[in-house]
Amino acid sequence: MSNSPLNIPIEKIPRHVAMIMDGNGRWAISRGLPRLAGHKAGTENLRRVIRASVEFGVKYLTIYAFSTENWGRPPEEVQGLMYILQDVIDKELGELNKEGVQLRHIGRLERLDPRIQQKVLKAIDLTKNNDKLILNVAFNYGGRDEIVCAIQKLMNEGIRAEDVTDELVSKYMFTVGVPDPDLIIRTSGELRVSNFLIWQAAYSEWYITPTFWPDFDREEYGRALEDFANRDRRYGKI
Ligand code: IPE
Ligand code: IPE
Ligand code: MG
Repeated sequence: MSNSPLNIPIEKIPRHVAMIMDGNGRWAISRGLPRLAGHKAGTENLRRVIRASVEFGVKYLTIYAFSTENWGRPPEEVQGLMYILQDVIDKELGELNKEGVQLRHIGRLERLDPRIQQKVLKAIDLTKNNDKLILNVAFNYGGRDEIVCAIQKLMNEGIRAEDVTDELVSKYMFTVGVPDPDLIIRTSGELRVSNFLIWQAAYSEWYITPTFWPDFDREEYGRALEDFANRDRRYGKI
């Protein structure tokens, strides 16, 4: 039985897909455009990918938009990315809310410009009762930073060493309440994790494509889900 537009039984659709949206810069350079034009094109594509996620029946989508390491880029690019985040919220929030998308943020919000923090918090509040798709935006996110933050919270709360379990640690992550990603997609072909969800990805499946993020379309997303549906997830067993 299939009630997804894809030829996949519904129970084989990943509940949580995470995406490393990489290759915007190379997409732009290959067209003789400035890198920021690639980031703009990347956000256009994001809109399509969000729609496709709803259509395919994915429940949780996590997108890596800005890493703790991305602060090391030239200031104009960092500024441009900050501006794009605000612009996306301004232009897309109404529509996303109408479509039932719940926005969440993972990463260190408190280290962003106060105006950005306010916008993000407003967007989270506005969409908090939506349940069609949970969209986690990883912005100023780093996997190691998340683990450090979790350890600090655990210690501040005086949790005893013998009470620290796998489940407890998960509750101290930014992703609390969100199931671990079933599938992680990385565009633009790099074979690395780049500090993304290093705790949560313990048993995620990976799909890496050479396609640059702005060109990663609905059709290829569908192919990634079909590929995932044919995987045998053994979790160390036989
Ligand atoms: C991904 O595209 C977006 C961000 C990291 C913000 P890149 O900007 O990393 O593009 P490439 O990897 O340089 O092509
Ligand atoms: C990962 O891409 C971060 C985001 C997509 C936001 P990068 O382009 O920053 O990763 P590296 O530098 O190639 O590892
Ligand atoms: Mg990159």
